[in-house]
Amino acid sequence: MKILVTGGAGFIGTHTLVELLEAGKDVVVMDNFSNSKPESLARVKKITGKDFKFYEADMLDTAALDRIFEENPDIGSVVHFAGLKAVGESCEQPMRYYTNNISGTLKLLDSMNRHGVKKIVFSSSATVYGLPKSVPIKEDFPLKTYNPYGETKLMTERILSDIIKADPEWCAVILRYFNPIGAHSSGLIGEDPKGIPNNLFPYITQVGVGKLKKLRVFGDDYPTHDGTGVRDYIHVADLANAHLKALEYAEKTVGIDYFNIGTGKGYSVLDMVKAYERITGKTIAYEIVDRRPGDIAECYADPTKAKEVLNWTAKYGIDDMCRDADRWQTNNPEGYTK
Ligand code: UFG
Repeated sequence: MKILVTGGAGFIGTHTLVELLEAGKDVVVMDNFSNSKPESLARVKKITGKDFKFYEADMLDTAALDRIFEENPDIGSVVHFAGLKAVGESCEQPMRYYTNNISGTLKLLDSMNRHGVKKIVFSSSATVYGLPKSVPIKEDFPLKTYNPYGETKLMTERILSDIIKADPEWCAVILRYFNPIGAHSSGLIGEDPKGIPNNLFPYITQVGVGKLKKLRVFGDDYPTHDGTGVRDYIHVADLANAHLKALEYAEKTVGIDYFNIGTGKGYSVLDMVKAYERITGKTIAYEIVDRRPGDIAECYADPTKAKEVLNWTAKYGIDDMCRDADRWQTNNPEGYTK
């Protein structure tokens, strides 16, 4: 059976495609290139030596979705990455976020249902835990969100839960990502944010290659070991492997289940700067500025459930993440160019 990968040209999508293709899976890929470029898929083909069918299509286009399922009746499951993902942007453009992430997902689920495809692996986020009451975070912690982006992730989890209550043939595996960074070890695919990066690690690597001058560290007065924010950084190759494990689990089960995908270890902003400097020999200029509104002090996973149920654990550490992200950024200072 084939796997439909929505948003396959993005950062996590491309790495997951490599993982699935190398495991011998057949994939069909769709993307609207709203935040990605075709070159990324050419690179996936180069790494794996494998080809796949691609549709340039938008989730809001029901006819296009129907055509994908009609032309590929052997699709048995969907890995659903497609969606907008910037917290700040979601506060400025909530309609766009709800339309894309919620209406788009509803159209996808409806088309799946009408074509008898009832297995989905969904990209959720640690953002659904809001301000966690403690760390490490377990899957049964209370859920609350503080911005439209997070709301779309939590709403989609709830939509999937209701669909499953109404139709016991459905299966949804919800993966709650912590902070994915790093890149494929080939240096051919990696994170390619549009404009100035919002997230810490692409910012560090762009300072590393001289594209940006100075990192701004958002606050050094948090109650953490050095005062800067602590996160659970996970290598994107480990995250990609979690999707393979989730699909294997979905093949043999029904119902809904939720998994934290993180390493279980927290590193501060300055820990990451120092690790990157140590691994690459480069210097990262930085200045401490005010806290970024909405940020929390500490966020890291308890990944025990993913280990016990999916048989998944993170293999890579921050040294690998720094080395691989730097290789990608050095080889592709402008990201994908076409
Ligand atoms: N940071 C800086 N300077 C920067 C960027 C970030 O100091 O230029 C700090 C932040 O304050 C935070 C840490 O680096 O302490 C990580 O920030 P990121 O923006 O890289 O990541 P977040 O943890 O804020 O957000 C990420 C994803 C969200 C997701 C969230 C879930 O980007 O999509 O994790 O917890 F919702």
